[in-house]
Amino acid sequence: MQVSTSHEKWSSRLTFIMAAVGSSVGLGNVWKFPYEAGVSGGGAFVLIYIACILVVGLPILIAELTLGKQGQMSPPNTMRTLAQREGRSSLWQSVGWLGVLAAFMILSFYSVIGGWALAYVPKFISGDLITTNPDVVTTEFNTLLASPVQMLAWHGLFMVLTIFVVARGIHAGIEKAVDILMPALFFILLALVIYAAIAGDFGRAWSFLFAADFSKITPDVVLNALGQAFFSISVGLGAMMTYGAYLPKDVKIPRAATIIVFADTMVALLAGLAIFPIVFANGLDPASGPGLVFVTLPLAFAGVPLGGFFGTMFFVLIVFAAITSSISLLEPVVSWAEEHKGVKRSLSAIVAGFLIWLLGLLSVFSFNLWGDVHLLEMFERFETATLFDLMDFTTSNIFLPLGGMAMVIFASWIMSRETTETDLGLSPALYKSWLFLARFVAPIALLMIFAYNIFG
Ligand code: PFF
Repeated sequence: MQVSTSHEKWSSRLTFIMAAVGSSVGLGNVWKFPYEAGVSGGGAFVLIYIACILVVGLPILIAELTLGKQGQMSPPNTMRTLAQREGRSSLWQSVGWLGVLAAFMILSFYSVIGGWALAYVPKFISGDLITTNPDVVTTEFNTLLASPVQMLAWHGLFMVLTIFVVARGIHAGIEKAVDILMPALFFILLALVIYAAIAGDFGRAWSFLFAADFSKITPDVVLNALGQAFFSISVGLGAMMTYGAYLPKDVKIPRAATIIVFADTMVALLAGLAIFPIVFANGLDPASGPGLVFVTLPLAFAGVPLGGFFGTMFFVLIVFAAITSSISLLEPVVSWAEEHKGVKRSLSAIVAGFLIWLLGLLSVFSFNLWGDVHLLEMFERFETATLFDLMDFTTSNIFLPLGGMAMVIFASWIMSRETTETDLGLSPALYKSWLFLARFVAPIALLMIFAYNIFG
């Protein structure tokens, strides 16, 4: 097979960091983190989450970016090249393939939820959603879910936007998009937090998020936090490996990774500080689950002054965050195709994007036509799981932890110490800490999530 390695490189360290922060900051931060924290009792979850990010997430992110920077290709080809270099089996490239498969599957449902957020922008602008009547908001959301045509259209639009950015390449596409979207996202988020502090019950939200009640810490909370940390910083499938492949040699990964992880955590916490003050001020339930952002929040915005405007901004924020992540899910696939002679980036982005959109039909129909299809109903745990639930479960709970474990093991046990030591450029003490976390702590933690998800 003809393989070419000449990918574009990031224009600067800053654009790389913006793109990587863009990948990690997404629906995971602004939709999932607040509701997970909400249902898991707030502060206890937040504390464990931060610990997981530092002890497990950061070492894996460093490992994944290092693999990419060393291999300089798409995940399957990076893993194959590095395994060859270390004299190991070419089977290691299956880690890259697993990543590509996971990226396909995650993007197929990620884009459906991104589509909901897109749909909410005009709904807010038109005023349809600005009501304090819970029945109206619930019906509005349920009507969207019940309509395959509407959902398909919004999911399609979301995919078109993603394809458009990726097709234009690293400089003209991804960098341009993150240059505009990331600062915008930051300012909108800040404005929303300030607004929530003025219009909402900030004190209660603060203590809900930061006062840890240790009695609430159960194995479930720990494992949820670990899984969420993993998804939130985009590790385990090769998105970061692909972004790492476009790094110039002189960028030091540990610093960049620390900035990425810090920014990701800040955004998750700020999203909590934007949502919960308004939820509490309206006496609504912080533990409403996945509907927190799509049902509870519109009600909450309707109850505060200028809620329509800020509500619209909130959904624009979600869309921006989701797009800078979805492009990083399409990029590994396109980058792989680009390495094979004759496949133009724009063509592969369109073809892959279309196939992903098609796969997304499974998720779309899970909310309506196939709502009663429960493929694994013979297992108690999956009795009511739809195809959407199964795809989410398989990717987030099995493929990502498995991929992350393979990557961190490869970087810390198989790659030569000289390579990682020189490449990371850490002080001896910090290098040893990374090695310890990467060799022992991260794989054990991942094994735990993995075992729990399968047998728990
Ligand atoms: N980190 C993204 C989020 O929090 O929404 C989701 C994601 C993007 C996961 C890219 C994995 C990935 F490779």
